[in-house]
Amino acid sequence: MILDVDTGIDDALALMLAVRHPDVNLRAVTCVAGNATLEQVVRNTLTVLDVAGAGDIPVAAGAHRPLLAEANHAAHVHGTDGLGDLGLPESMRAVAPVHAVELLRREILASPTPVTLVPLAPMTNIALLVRMYPEVLTNVERIVFMGGSASVGNATAVAEFNTWHDPEAAEIVLTSGVPITMYGLDVFYAVTIPPEDIAQLTASDEPGARLVGRLLHHIVSVKGGEVRVSGEGHGDIGDAGAVCAAIDPEGLRTVNLPVRVSLSDPLTRGQTVVDHRTAGHEQAGTADSRFRPIDVALGIDSARYSKLFLDTITA
Ligand code: BDR
Ligand code: CA
Repeated sequence: MILDVDTGIDDALALMLAVRHPDVNLRAVTCVAGNATLEQVVRNTLTVLDVAGAGDIPVAAGAHRPLLAEANHAAHVHGTDGLGDLGLPESMRAVAPVHAVELLRREILASPTPVTLVPLAPMTNIALLVRMYPEVLTNVERIVFMGGSASVGNATAVAEFNTWHDPEAAEIVLTSGVPITMYGLDVFYAVTIPPEDIAQLTASDEPGARLVGRLLHHIVSVKGGEVRVSGEGHGDIGDAGAVCAAIDPEGLRTVNLPVRVSLSDPLTRGQTVVDHRTAGHEQAGTADSRFRPIDVALGIDSARYSKLFLDTITA
């Protein structure tokens, strides 16, 4: 597995899960501007990997802004440092001396088995990889990305933050020909951790579990947690749910549906337009070839993923 991140509180939870799950061989982590600036994302990613005891996993810096649009960070959600302003110590480790796209290429080619790519951020780095080194995509088994929505948005009324931040990149990746799972807002908030588990994690002697507890605590106190789905005091694991889906796809209900990213209309820019009309039909007379079928997550076994997450972090 390779993660592409904009760490980011829930990206940090995803990193902890990927590092600690026994079935995951995390080959590399690439960074992109999104929740925070690229520099901050790199700093946060190195810090989290240090706390996770995974200081040897290569980390590379990638795109510092979207392909066309201006960068637009999300300090209101993730704090001014992008990681909840918890005052974590800075890592002493150096970032890989290559661009993220080069690290992606190197690790995909070096992997003896096809790689699962898990972008948890605007897909600028992945789009650049698709354009620069399309030949490596044959060794990518699947892209499981957090982004998009088949219903409502969060950055705008209809667009999810990651696809809204770099819509052109999302469209390039969605039309790359690689099998894709869209882990979008339709399932994103569903996997939650109850307050008593958050309290236990926060009180843990083990630094990784303690950090996860503190990040979840921040999610509850700043964002209000996921009251809609699970009730007061529950923290949603966000991006870490996409890693759960990559590890254990059986917990996800997907439908193969044609999807396009809205690029020009300012009202809908970044929206993933999902054509539900073709669901269950072999031939859709109205099919538009510019829409590419991908596996859209529409249902989720949230209890299964909460358990997967907690068991892995506390093992
Ligand atoms: C996405 O945007 C960021 O805030 C999260 O890390 C997640 O990847 C949700 O829209
Ligand atoms: Ca993210």
